[in-house]
Amino acid sequence: STVPVNVTVTGAAGQIGYALLFRIASGQMLGPDVRVRLKMLEIPQGVKAAEGTAMELEDCAFPLLAGIDIYDDATQAFDGVNVGLLVGARPRGAGMERGDLLAANGGIFGPQGEAINAGAADDVRILVVGNPANTNALIASAHAPDVPADRFNAMMRLDHNRALAQLALRTGAPVSEISRVTIWGNHSAKQHPDITHALVGGRPAAEVVGDDAWVKGEFVPTVAKRGAAIIDARGASSAASAANAAISHVHDWVLGTPKDDWTSVAMPSDGSYDVPEGLVSSFPASSEGGRWEIVQGLELDDYTRAGIDASVAELVEERDAVKELGLLPAVTI
Ligand code: NAI
Repeated sequence: STVPVNVTVTGAAGQIGYALLFRIASGQMLGPDVRVRLKMLEIPQGVKAAEGTAMELEDCAFPLLAGIDIYDDATQAFDGVNVGLLVGARPRGAGMERGDLLAANGGIFGPQGEAINAGAADDVRILVVGNPANTNALIASAHAPDVPADRFNAMMRLDHNRALAQLALRTGAPVSEISRVTIWGNHSAKQHPDITHALVGGRPAAEVVGDDAWVKGEFVPTVAKRGAAIIDARGASSAASAANAAISHVHDWVLGTPKDDWTSVAMPSDGSYDVPEGLVSSFPASSEGGRWEIVQGLELDDYTRAGIDASVAELVEERDAVKELGLLPAVTI
């Protein structure tokens, strides 16, 4: 197309931003024919570093990059936004209680939701990456009443990809032969990675693995705690893999998922699988025509049901906490 797509990236000067912006500008997110205009949002202290990144983006001479703007004001950054990647967030500081963390992030994602409501394009799609991602997405959506709630996603794709990788390592199959893995619930250590419907080379994954103790005792905790393991090893949190997951999430949302497969997406529940309506929880989802559909009718065994319920209970707690803090306008849930 000739009209550039406006892509807003918050936290643009951060670790993930640095791994993300170049791939967006090169066409890996929206395809090789789509020009993009980057709108980078930072806090004032981050603007200078963002300007440095912008200089490097210019120096790549990407044919698809139609322009770069840097803002420290959310209203301007989200004006005309088609795709928004909400990466910037308040990390948990030493001695910070969970309530403080939720409140600090509510102070970011509420106003960003309002800015999206005020200025977004009709086709806007928002992916929240900054943690706690699911509840931040809920807060942003609650402040954008004119934007359909299903345009707000939180990122589970990194967890999904981690599950694919662990299954590939265990079975020796290439990831390209593995399908129908699901992450349910919250992007936290309480997520529920699920291979009960997965296929490896066309065969049921559980059968190929043939070791239920490995699934429950190794696979699930390895995937769920991978973020902490990366921090431990690298001395910094996952950045390139998180950026990669964001690229894939938006790519598939806009351009579709492969036939006969699905991915994992946190989006407002419609009540599917008895997840309370409105919670931004992860489901198996496929995309066609630019819209996610929750994969329906999967049978859940007791272990999977219990895993989903535990993760959803955590989301309910987070929702109730932010509600109590006055961060969810009363009308929403
Ligand atoms: P970082 O600390 O390197 O970068 C964050 C950037 O956001 C900083 O440059 C900061 O100035 C900026 N920022 C803070 N508040 C802002 C605001 N109100 N508006 C605009 N920018 C703002 O952190 P990193 O490594 O890039 O991670 C970013 C977030 O992504 C963290 O919350 C992290 O926990 C989360 N994350 C989520 C994953 C997921 O799977 N959903 C995976 C990995 C990280």
